[in-house]
Amino acid sequence: MANFSVFDDRVPELITTNGNLSLATPYIEQQTLSDALKTQPALPIKTALKLGISLCECLEQLHQNNWIHKGITPNNILYSAKDGSASLADDLSVISAGQLGQLVAETSYCEESLAYQSPEQCGRVRLDIDRRSDLYALGCVLYRCIVGHSPFLVPSAQPVSTQNLIHSHLAEIPQTLESLSAECPRYVSQIVSILLHKETEKRYQTAQGLKHDLLIALQRLDSQDNSDFVLQRKDITDEIVLPSILLGRNEETQRLLTLYQHVCGGVLGVAYVTGLSGIGKSRLVQELEAPILLRQGLFTSGKYNQFSKHQPYATISQAIGKLIRFILTETEDRLQAWKQNI
Ligand SMILES: Nc1ncnc2c1ncn2[C@@H]1O[C@H](COP(=O)(O)OP(=O)(O)O)[C@@H](O)[C@H]1O
Ligand SMILES: [Mg+2]
Repeated sequence: MANFSVFDDRVPELITTNGNLSLATPYIEQQTLSDALKTQPALPIKTALKLGISLCECLEQLHQNNWIHKGITPNNILYSAKDGSASLADDLSVISAGQLGQLVAETSYCEESLAYQSPEQCGRVRLDIDRRSDLYALGCVLYRCIVGHSPFLVPSAQPVSTQNLIHSHLAEIPQTLESLSAECPRYVSQIVSILLHKETEKRYQTAQGLKHDLLIALQRLDSQDNSDFVLQRKDITDEIVLPSILLGRNEETQRLLTLYQHVCGGVLGVAYVTGLSGIGKSRLVQELEAPILLRQGLFTSGKYNQFSKHQPYATISQAIGKLIRFILTETEDRLQAWKQNI
């Protein structure tokens, strides 16, 4: 890397040497946040806020350049305990949701990576990964720094499996910071809770908006002012973001959910959804994903396609294939249980 002059930006540069392509980022002489957290499990709140502000600045720059980090964890944060400044490293490792299964065998994966991954990155929900996925991860990091553990990995509890951790990200509301730490003012706790929303629309939308609130929080802490203030005032984006929420299908959703509850009682059931193409059938069925996951159920889907009519059972095999690939990511004893049951 010494031969290259890397441009002074946080977005990697594409370089060609001897016909080989590579991406280069600046070399920064700092320790990782996870190393810093080895000596002190939690940071003082002001220090954590300063770290958050510094990370917001990094994210602002990345996001402005249409780059999503996708892997913000204490391992990828370079941190200087002296001034609380931080920078992001390893923004080249892009892992797709489909690759998650391959990492299940890695013991450190749950603790070091998955603990910081947004619901949409866990690959079980319909939401797309975007800049708000980075903001969720940042929320997990701040949580970790303030109370000493990430939102769903409580130290004294049983070791958590990949599946359980994914389930927590998708369906479980973490304990609030203020309920875990007496020193944590409500506004800090609320900021982190907003970052940890499952639905991207309900999170902070921009790093600038978050930074603005973190700066106010820091000022308030300095003046020992614990009173609330209006959050997300500057959290405005000039981009048009299509909402992922379902509109005007309450009755249909309710009917499907009632049927699902019925099936959970042990009876076999089938529901048919019909309608013209584009009317919203798939979108309606997707509404079942979260309630099913909440009950530790399994959701799978397949798509009928007018061009694969010649393949018998193509869609059923697609849906079952997805299910099997998922089951294969489970632990050895769960796999054995499946083998016995099938
Ligand atoms: N009730 C709804 N609220 C919000 N978006 C919807 C709704 N119904 C459909 N959409 C959107 O319209 C598009 C087409 O819907 P889709 O479910 O794919 O149709 P179908 O499966 O019936 O062909 C998708 O982008 C979907 O997200
Ligand atoms: Mg469809």
